[in-house]
Amino acid sequence: MAIESSCDETSVAILADGRTVLSNVISSQIDIHTAFGGVVPEIASRHHLENMNTVVEQSLREAGAALDEIDLLGVTYGPGLVGALLMGVATAKAIAFAKDIPLVGVNHMHGHISANFIQYPDLEPPFMSLIVSGGHTNIALMTDYGKCTVLGGTRDDAVGEAYDKVARVIGLGYPGGPKIDKAAREGNPEAIHFKRVFLEKGSLDFSFSGLKTAVLNYLNTERQAGREVSVPDVAASFQAAVIEVIVKKTMEAALDRKQEKLVLAGGVAANSKLRQDLQEACDKQGIKLYVPSPVLCTDNAAMVACAAYYKYQREGADDLYLDAYPSLAI
Ligand SMILES: Nc1ncnc2c1ncn2[C@@H]1O[C@H](COP(=O)(O)OP(=O)(O)OP(=O)(O)O)[C@@H](O)[C@H]1O
Ligand SMILES: [Mg+2]
Repeated sequence: MAIESSCDETSVAILADGRTVLSNVISSQIDIHTAFGGVVPEIASRHHLENMNTVVEQSLREAGAALDEIDLLGVTYGPGLVGALLMGVATAKAIAFAKDIPLVGVNHMHGHISANFIQYPDLEPPFMSLIVSGGHTNIALMTDYGKCTVLGGTRDDAVGEAYDKVARVIGLGYPGGPKIDKAAREGNPEAIHFKRVFLEKGSLDFSFSGLKTAVLNYLNTERQAGREVSVPDVAASFQAAVIEVIVKKTMEAALDRKQEKLVLAGGVAANSKLRQDLQEACDKQGIKLYVPSPVLCTDNAAMVACAAYYKYQREGADDLYLDAYPSLAI
């Protein structure tokens, strides 16, 4: 069993043998936070507290399991919002102590990558990975289960954060990623040319804050001139600028390191254009692309349970002093 509560989803999952999902209950708080245009940390913690026991019970019910049958308990202990993480960690410790079950603290980002082990039962490291989410944008070489070398990361905004901020300024609201994805399908990606930011030659780092400002400047200029702004065109043009850079850098990393497998992970991995463009690039180079189903891309406890299974085999259990670690590195 694993518990995930690092942001605004309360999720509890039960897996058999580390890769077979028996239940993956996700209670999302999106509707609650939409009123505020983004996640309010204190409100998120309170809702985790309210929902946690119900989600645990539902997960057991759907899996047809009893707590006494659980033989390993995983929990996300970072990175994330401290109050939200604490809710999951405290619950996991209480269950582990009461039922004498070994406890394993899981890095949320290793959880995102592990979503692919559930989706593809035969997938094994090593592989190149692209992790794109609300708080992260990383290219990392996974050398073994739970072991990775980070080759690049964002120097400012994470890609999901850029989607959410741009969605807000063009009036699409929260959560921005899926809304831009949808609006962009109706727009022309060449309508507005936003600069592609590649940084220094050979760098696998990213920068998205300039692009966000460029969108804002474009909107201000058009509005001041009294011209009507096409939201689908802005969405498509913004998305084209983001995805071109991400795809080029990821392919460069995979080819340089001679990797034949590329694994996509994190909430932004649900993006239809990113999936499509990366697939085309991989097909050209003979690289196999692994992409989880959308429900396994965004925060869920099944991916955490899978990561816990492998971490336990490698490192054994954590003790009950396990604490939340909001800035835990990938
Ligand atoms: N179809 C989509 N296109 C683009 N972005 C998307 C899509 N679906 C979700 N996202 C983005 O994914 C992010 C949520 O992903 P996730 O839940 O993994 O992030 P997080 O857990 O908040 O951050 P992290 O995993 O880095 O701690 C949001 O920024 C959201 O806008
Ligand atoms: Mg996440």
